[in-house]
Amino acid sequence: MRRDRLEPFGAEKSDDKLLVVAGRAHGHGDGLPVHPNLERLLDGELVGLRLPARKPQDVGAGRGVRRQGVHYDRTIDVLKLTELLPELPNERTKLLDNLGRVRREVGPVTAELSDAVADHMNIRRGEVDEVVSFYSFLRVPTNAVRVCIGPVCDCLGAKDVLAREQEQANGIPVLGVECLGHCDLAPALLRGDTVEPEVAYRTNDGASIGLGRADETLADYEARGGFSVLRDLPSPERIVEELKASGLAGYGGAGFPTGVKWEAVAREPGPRYVVVNADEGEPGTVKDRYVMERRPHLMLEGMLVAMRFAEATEGFIYLREEYATARARIARALEELRDSGLLSGISVELVIGAGAYICGEETAMLESMEGRRGMPRLKPPFPSEVGYLGRPTLIQNVETLAHIPAILGMGGESWPRVRLWSLSGAVNRAGCYEAPLDVTLRQLIDEYAGGATEEIGAIVPGGAASGILPPAALDVPLTREALREWGVGAGSAGVQVYPKSYSPLRLLAETMRFFAEESCQKCTPCRIGNRGLHHLLEELDEGRVVMSREQAEEWLDAMAATSICGLGQGAPFPMRAAFRYWPETFAPLGEPVTMGEP
Ligand SMILES: Cc1cc2nc3c(=O)[nH]c(=O)nc-3n(C[C@H](O)[C@H](O)[C@H](O)COP(=O)(O)O)c2cc1C
Ligand code: SF4
Repeated sequence: MRRDRLEPFGAEKSDDKLLVVAGRAHGHGDGLPVHPNLERLLDGELVGLRLPARKPQDVGAGRGVRRQGVHYDRTIDVLKLTELLPELPNERTKLLDNLGRVRREVGPVTAELSDAVADHMNIRRGEVDEVVSFYSFLRVPTNAVRVCIGPVCDCLGAKDVLAREQEQANGIPVLGVECLGHCDLAPALLRGDTVEPEVAYRTNDGASIGLGRADETLADYEARGGFSVLRDLPSPERIVEELKASGLAGYGGAGFPTGVKWEAVAREPGPRYVVVNADEGEPGTVKDRYVMERRPHLMLEGMLVAMRFAEATEGFIYLREEYATARARIARALEELRDSGLLSGISVELVIGAGAYICGEETAMLESMEGRRGMPRLKPPFPSEVGYLGRPTLIQNVETLAHIPAILGMGGESWPRVRLWSLSGAVNRAGCYEAPLDVTLRQLIDEYAGGATEEIGAIVPGGAASGILPPAALDVPLTREALREWGVGAGSAGVQVYPKSYSPLRLLAETMRFFAEESCQKCTPCRIGNRGLHHLLEELDEGRVVMSREQAEEWLDAMAATSICGLGQGAPFPMRAAFRYWPETFAPLGEPVTMGEP
């Protein structure tokens, strides 16, 4: 082994011998043990080893694990690293992927490993360290147990599961994390890559996506008419017309009209990129996972239609790290497409996230793909104008793309206006169902999800930022317009049903904790406001008042008006809805002085 390869570990020459002082370069004072392989290699030459006191490692922003100390074995297998490093590409856009590979193939990305990657890629060490510390999972071992403590799991006993797992940990790190995207199985956990309890799909066979029957292979998909739209694609103008006629509006949460977005991208000069947003992190939302696990070719057909439309030769699928099954299903489907020539002349790449909810925001996702911390950019310019690497980029949610073959196949006017509703919480058949846009909560619960298991106390209609509804709203059609009157949004259609036994104050506190944990920290109102409001709710739950209603509303106004992305702008929705529907809960805070719009 060449000695200079050992340099990242702090190896240095001293009197013709090697002195290994791990952690030296960082001044962290808590070096790392050296793997036995290294000791063997250096036999006779090794004069010094500074062995560390083990300290818990704080992990990065996102998915709620920032402040939990993670204990893990920090021994580095030097041989594995020296084998891996030369294989890692050194373009900046590959940074996240490289760090993910180091984590999977060598171990949690310690400061020393971070430096090794930085040196290899010729990036300033501090910049790589910034990226590593931003994401939750780069410093977490792959065999860790991740227990979801998001609101649905919390309501169904996650804290007990976490306590049980911690008690039985046996040296393996156990973390409480935010939504794992398996809310239909709540309370859910990940043991390494394995989901518990065992995955079950409760769904229906709608006319647009047809989730009821899964496609195992490309042949299965083609037997159902798959890829006929791509093989006989209408003109770009016709595509825009059909999309507009269908009324399709992005199902990732923001609800932007898809036809208008495609038209905007086409107006910009090439080269253009297409990115699929598969980061699904909104609590209560499982629909994109259902699509990717059951109908990966359908999503890919939608993506290839988008690429052909945008004349893009490079496309990316940004997938959340926790979706190992979806990753395998998409990777296999891509292989099949490659073998059958459907990808000739183009490349489609899977980019795996590392545990940061904010990377689902489209501009944060672009930052992440470009090898930086996933912090949202100011808009405008929009990604359709200035996106990946400064080029026009069409970003579309998994489900949005999965509807496109049906829309172009049957014509926009004839397409039944539907979407996928994720249902979780106090219902008998939690799952993912295709249903009309104007379905009511009562219909979803009774006709699709097998009825409620308990008396309903509150409903979250579309993910954490959508707001909270009282049972009186059960018969409201879930259209954006109707929900606006109730002061909430349709969001990602992640419907969470909470029993009366789970207090709205608890639900709200857990929701604000989620925002506080997931804020990327860029804007002051979002960074401090979410934390402060979470504190207010926790204290109120204990009967203490730490902020007046007037102060709370000032924070909400400031967050809504001055945050730069949807996280900070959306976080006030659940608070204001709770003020409106459960006023008695907040009476101890005093009278509302500046009543913002709910
Ligand atoms: C905090 C935040 C998180 C988001 N997370 C996701 C996500 O996980 N998946 C998604 O498709 N869109 C997400 N979005 C919306 C995206 O920014 C973007 O609007 C969407 O990917 C566009 O695709 P669509 O038009 O098909 O919905 C998020 C937005 C915000 C503000
Ligand atoms: S609003 Fe919050 S999450 Fe969004 S950019 Fe600002 S600090 Fe980051």
